[in-house]
Amino acid sequence: MRCITECFLHERVRSVDESFIEPLTLLQGSNNYLYTVLCEFSGRISDMNNRFIITCVATFISVTSLAVNNGYATNEYDVQAFGPKNPIIWDTPVKVEFSHRVHTEDAGLECSSCHGEPFAMQRGVAMRSGKLTMTSLAEGKYCGMCHDGDTAFASDTNCAGCHTPPEERIVWSKPVKAVVFHHQLHTDEYGLECDSCHNEVFAMKSGTAEQSPFFTMKSLYKGQYCGKCHDGETAFASNTLCNTCHIGKKGYNRLMGNASHSQENNKEKSGH
Ligand code: HEC
Ligand code: HEC
Ligand code: HEC
Ligand code: HEC
Ligand code: HEC
Ligand code: HEC
Repeated sequence: MRCITECFLHERVRSVDESFIEPLTLLQGSNNYLYTVLCEFSGRISDMNNRFIITCVATFISVTSLAVNNGYATNEYDVQAFGPKNPIIWDTPVKVEFSHRVHTEDAGLECSSCHGEPFAMQRGVAMRSGKLTMTSLAEGKYCGMCHDGDTAFASDTNCAGCHTPPEERIVWSKPVKAVVFHHQLHTDEYGLECDSCHNEVFAMKSGTAEQSPFFTMKSLYKGQYCGKCHDGETAFASNTLCNTCHIGKKGYNRLMGNASHSQENNKEKSGH
């Protein structure tokens, strides 16, 4: 059972959505071996950041799991004992995934350790209160009641444990059109932790930096923003390889125009 949570929660598959989770969960109930293979496989393809393939795989799995479920008796996930099967997802202002089974089945917590305090047994209540924020977590409320570095890992560490980075590229068009940033390269490929950029260098909200008049090459050369690392030591210097970060107007148009197509992946390499 751990495999499934490890696979879903950030470690391997960063780009899951519910349509993907549902069939996989069913599948794991019935065929562990096939599940593990698919888990590995989907981990690899998630690197490609390609929704198209994910969707294909999800469809494939749906079909397979249907077949498997019809053939074998399944040991169903016990909602009564472990709470809702699918993760609870908040996406305002940033995406968070909460898994019941990690907390109940794996960590052995009782329902009453979270319901009715600090959480109502109804999705959305905490969010609507407006009080579900990092500040209240740091004060020991909500998730912070346990995620304090004592009962469970602290809320000011392991950001990626609770937050998934955006799959889409971040593109700035001010002051020049356009500069592009890939999360997955920086986190998966180059192994950077979220807090090497958040929240000191960058806010966890796209478009924030470009509102500042200081989001310029001069600041980068002084070691701010991307220049914190792109200084010729930690990563290639900001006064070199202009076209790696800058995709220009053409690259911008292509990115925006084709954003929903599957060829999207290779494009900025060719933009100049
Ligand atoms: C570690 C904390 C935690 C534990 C333990 C826990 N829950 Fe939850 N549960 C939550 C959170 C967080 C929510 C979402 C509340 C919100 O959005 O305001 C939730 C929501 C729910 C919901 C509403 C789902 C929906 O779609 O509206 C149900 C039902 C539920 N829990 C049942 C259970 C049961 C049954 C158990 C024990 C087997 C349990 N929970 C244990 C944290 C927990
Ligand atoms: C234990 C889980 C958990 C961890 C660990 C965690 N967060 Fe959060 N974070 C949340 C929840 C829950 C919210 C509120 C719901 C939402 O925004 O979707 C949130 C919201 C946020 C927000 C939105 C604005 C705000 O301040 O509430 C930012 C920014 C943020 N987190 C940054 C971080 C960073 C940076 C780290 C690592 C240093 C981190 N988080 C670690 C659970 C976590
Ligand atoms: C009642 C205590 C409690 C509360 C409240 C709680 N957690 Fe946890 N959580 C735990 C424990 C215990 C573990 C397992 C030990 C660890 O990972 O440090 C855990 C583990 C986790 C993990 C690690 C999952 C993995 O793959 O190993 C995540 C992510 C997480 N919690 C998120 C949250 C979020 C988000 C909230 C708030 C919505 C929350 N937790 C509220 C106790 C709690
Ligand atoms: C190398 C730097 C870097 C690292 C590492 C990094 N981020 Fe980001 N992140 C950014 C930048 C830059 C932005 C856009 C900020 C802006 O436009 O001002 C951003 C924005 C975001 C946003 C907001 C997206 C939106 O559409 O509003 C989220 C959520 C986020 N990051 C989550 C994460 C998580 C989770 C991790 C760790 C797994 C992470 N980031 C690691 C640089 C980074
Ligand atoms: C916390 C450190 C850090 C920050 C901040 C950072 N980067 Fe990087 N970046 C790296 C590392 C490490 C590499 C990989 C080593 C290299 O290519 O020199 C890299 C590589 C890249 C690459 C090459 C990707 C490829 O195609 O292989 C681009 C483009 C890039 N970063 C853009 C940016 C932009 C734009 C920003 C600011 C929004 C930024 N980075 C901020 C550390 C960082
Ligand atoms: C590590 C990524 C990176 C590299 C490398 C890079 N830039 Fe930039 N550049 C940025 C970011 C981020 C901005 C601010 C966002 C925007 O304008 O879209 C910017 C803005 C600019 C601007 C407008 C603001 C200003 O400073 O006047 C110019 C002009 C510019 N870059 C030229 C260059 C040239 C020429 C090179 C190569 C010698 C280069 N850049 C290399 C990331 C980079």
